[in-house]
Amino acid sequence: MYSEKVMDHFQNPRNMGEIEDASGVGTVGNAKCGDIMRIYLDIDENQIIRDVKFKTFGCGAAVATSSMATELVKGKKIQEAMQITNRAVAEALDGLPPVKMHCSLLAEEAIHAALWDYAQKHDITIEGLQKPKSDIHEGEEEEAEAY
Ligand code: FES
Repeated sequence: MYSEKVMDHFQNPRNMGEIEDASGVGTVGNAKCGDIMRIYLDIDENQIIRDVKFKTFGCGAAVATSSMATELVKGKKIQEAMQITNRAVAEALDGLPPVKMHCSLLAEEAIHAALWDYAQKHDITIEGLQKPKSDIHEGEEEEAEAY
């Protein structure tokens, strides 16, 4: 059911933990399954994501997608990180079962929420970034269909 990469990131998650005095922190949940994900970003003065950590209270796919998402955004500029969609995260994991696509959405939204927090704290606008939802359950069907 799961690719080897999903199993690897689930069993050996990268960047798990938290960052003290993070530049931005984002937490999102999915009320339907009850899973919660939190992302911490350390962003330098050139708007490069120097470090990223996550904490996920959720299913195996949520842990694997958090882990992969942190790997994908680490070292990237904010605008590059904005381009990383849940679909890109799922593809980097060699795919997810359709019923588990919403788990990857949690990772995308948590990164956006952390970027939003950073933007608020620094009084800047990040192009294309909208105020995150704290619960991604709404709109989930549309996203699943889009994939
Ligand atoms: Fe909820 Fe995976 S089942 S995030």
